[in-house]
Amino acid sequence: MTDTTGSRLLLNRRTMIGAAAALVGAPAILRAQQLFAGYPFRLGIAAGDPAADGFVIWTRLAPDPLAEHGGMPMQPVEVEWQVATDPRFVTLVAGGKALARPELAHSVHVEVEGLLPDRPYWYRFSVGSERSTVGCARTLPLAGASLDRLRFAVAGCQNYEDGLYTAYRHLAADDPAFVFHYGDYIYESRSAPMPVGYDGKPRRFVREHVGQKLFDLADYRRRYAQYKTDPDLQAAHAAAAWFVTFDDHEVENNWVGEIDQENDPPEVFALRRAAAFQAYYEHMPLRRSAFPGPAGMQIYRRATIGNLLDLHLLDTRQFRTNQPCDDGFKTRCKGWADPAAQVMGRAQEAWLATALKQKKCHWNALAQQVMMMPLDRRTGDEPAPIRNMDSWGGYDAPRERVLKMVEGLGNVVVLTGDEHQNYAGVLRTEGGQGDAVAVEFVGTSITSGGDGADRRVGEERIRARNPFLAWTNDRRGYLLCDVTADQWKTEFRTVDTVTRPDAPVKTAGTAIVEHGNATVTMS
Ligand SMILES: [Fe+2]
Repeated sequence: MTDTTGSRLLLNRRTMIGAAAALVGAPAILRAQQLFAGYPFRLGIAAGDPAADGFVIWTRLAPDPLAEHGGMPMQPVEVEWQVATDPRFVTLVAGGKALARPELAHSVHVEVEGLLPDRPYWYRFSVGSERSTVGCARTLPLAGASLDRLRFAVAGCQNYEDGLYTAYRHLAADDPAFVFHYGDYIYESRSAPMPVGYDGKPRRFVREHVGQKLFDLADYRRRYAQYKTDPDLQAAHAAAAWFVTFDDHEVENNWVGEIDQENDPPEVFALRRAAAFQAYYEHMPLRRSAFPGPAGMQIYRRATIGNLLDLHLLDTRQFRTNQPCDDGFKTRCKGWADPAAQVMGRAQEAWLATALKQKKCHWNALAQQVMMMPLDRRTGDEPAPIRNMDSWGGYDAPRERVLKMVEGLGNVVVLTGDEHQNYAGVLRTEGGQGDAVAVEFVGTSITSGGDGADRRVGEERIRARNPFLAWTNDRRGYLLCDVTADQWKTEFRTVDTVTRPDAPVKTAGTAIVEHGNATVTMS
């Protein structure tokens, strides 16, 4: 056997197909038949950004998710997609072909149009003889159409190392119309060798990040691939369309604008942020309008759901000015009250103000990332108030401007994440001392922070010092919002453990807001 023959024998099937295509001058697009070393839909499927006439459907081909390029040949691959009115695909209503490009990690984003409002559809992908699992997504009711009731979920903060995604399996079973994801879909850190809980004690270690801290595109892609192999996360995506937004950990802890927490040169951090944004787009069911470019990503957007809910999805990271007082949990410094500070930036703030004035729906939800209530974080005998500089609590002027916008509406609910703890409370003007103008529900985390407890250490002091709080809870889970014209109900759905499998779900608290009244009643 000659050397030449020997090296030919080492060629795998994938290489041979590529070589054969090159030899005969075949089109660069591979119409794959048994092209892959493994099942190509191992990252699941997803739908997003539902509208009255359709939604985005997403997948990414990755037969070997953690390998270089997900185990894909670096060529475009044609993927077929189908949408039907039934889960068995008897009645097809839309279908076509999309190109999974190597430039976009072989992800596919199809904006399905021409569907009917306010009903479920089922979708799937295929490539060659391989077929994806089936996902379900509801179209929204027509904007302005009379809608009696809407039920949707709110989730985020899903550190893979901190626990199992049991809560996502329960979320899927709750069958929400859609999911709002407030960010921290991935965490950028390397594996934590000694995980410690909020109580300072060592925490049970559940599973490990592959790879080091994330910096380049391949790093971020592999982290998404690892997270997306989780079956419970895949089930939650398959159950409903998601409105996704990012917070900090999709890029780096507490970044804002072009500033990272290490104060690296902004032009250097901008490269990392661009890689993170590209990977985020590649792995999320986002519309083309969110396609990342030199200016960043357009993530703030709006969904008008019948005559019931205007869902204002905000971006509190890209246009924010630097955290005051050097970030962290701090006592008052001058920067708290800086009138030039921005959380949303001028353009987004004006966009929100204009929509709120139009009063299109019974309710307005500000679906966003970091806590708006100016929480005093003291748990001991510290002499002066302490706030989280990375939340709206570090930005008095922007927070008061938003509260002025919503004053008098009596129909505004703020939906938030980031805290890894459940909170229900009232938003008052004047740093929490003035008039009640809106209600805020802070969702806990899917896993971040580990098992938690029914009450966190120091909770009594937090409650005593922040009378605008109605309720707190430190378990993992998600929110289930059930909205009618007269009443907004939020159920805090929780699991008692994320470090052991199969925890049942329960409703740890139920909050009621009556329309026209910015107060919250707990039961
Ligand atoms: Fe988080």
